[in-house]
Amino acid sequence: MAKLWHKPRVMLYEKIIRPILFKNDPEFAHEMSVSLLNFASKFSPIYKTLEKLSRYSYDKPISLFGLDFPNAVGLAAGLDKDAEFIPMSQALGFGHVEVGTVTPIKQPGNPQPRLFRYPESESIINRFGFNNKGADSMLSRLQKLPPKSSRKVPIGINIGKGKATLLEDATQDYLTCFKQLADYGDYFAINISSPNTSGLRSLQGKEYLGELLNSLQAENRARTKKMGNARIPILLKISPDLSFTELDDVLEAILEAEIDGIIATNTTINREGPLSKYAEVGGLSGKLLCNRSDDTIKYVAQVTNGKLPIIGVGGIHNVEAAAKKMDLGASLVQIYSGFIYKGPGFINKLAKGLEPHTKPWF
Ligand code: FNR
Repeated sequence: MAKLWHKPRVMLYEKIIRPILFKNDPEFAHEMSVSLLNFASKFSPIYKTLEKLSRYSYDKPISLFGLDFPNAVGLAAGLDKDAEFIPMSQALGFGHVEVGTVTPIKQPGNPQPRLFRYPESESIINRFGFNNKGADSMLSRLQKLPPKSSRKVPIGINIGKGKATLLEDATQDYLTCFKQLADYGDYFAINISSPNTSGLRSLQGKEYLGELLNSLQAENRARTKKMGNARIPILLKISPDLSFTELDDVLEAILEAEIDGIIATNTTINREGPLSKYAEVGGLSGKLLCNRSDDTIKYVAQVTNGKLPIIGVGGIHNVEAAAKKMDLGASLVQIYSGFIYKGPGFINKLAKGLEPHTKPWF
């Protein structure tokens, strides 16, 4: 049945849904898609039927930092910023879902226009700047979901600092989000790599990173001790624009703070060479980011001897690009732009295509 449904679904997206969406202003189309997913997430007969048709789970789940992932393909942060359509993301076939970036207090983000599509290169530039409804609002939605113990796919919560928060107070913002949402996140992703919040990427520097990661882990350990349950995996999401020397510093801080893994990578602000014609300010994602993200994954895997779990993200536009990330050292992948350009059928295709590239974690 799932096989019969695959082709019509791809056709439906490519021939009907995408042309309608792409005719509209990018942010309007984005809002429309999110509203639709949000709406469908409220009706269990819709998402349960879809789930039967779409989900592809491996015979043996991928076990990583104490969690079981039914397949290798996750939804990258930024699409479901407020945890509004997790049931639909699961039903469409994602093997994990990362929501956020969420900040302690709601904020509107940068002025529009702030989202730009480049279909010829299957790429996107965004300068949203963490528009989100805040941690309180996310909490109220997560509380309505099944508890962690009975979830079908792990849910990651990606947290960031508010626009108005000074860099020296940033740790407090991350701690606030973590404390507030800890009961509901299967893992947390620390976002210090978005290019659209002024100064955020400075947190990747030695000066701040050690303090930030150690404070979060201290809170995590204290919580574990108090509640008597397992420590929550914490991952760091990094930029593709770090030099290898800067990456060395980041990895040192990660290892020292016993961070569980790395998400490589966020969007790029690099516009060298052929990228120079993409002049809009903001983070570039999609196909044009693929090689840069691969270089980062390869370097991290080499320096850590493959001992640090990596989630590979950036420019996955076909099965080969995703498989390359796994072969370079990623244990899971995530997609955002590829999902926008290829539609829901892409998730299943990737999940199946990546099965031979998964390897047991030691
Ligand atoms: C993003 N991304 C992102 N990442 C993050 O950690 N927090 C966020 O809020 C966002 N927001 C966001 C908005 C938009 C419109 C895009 C396109 C991307 C980055 C995203 O998660 C991913 O790391 C990159 O987009 C690279 O993957 P793709 O898009 O090339 O598959």
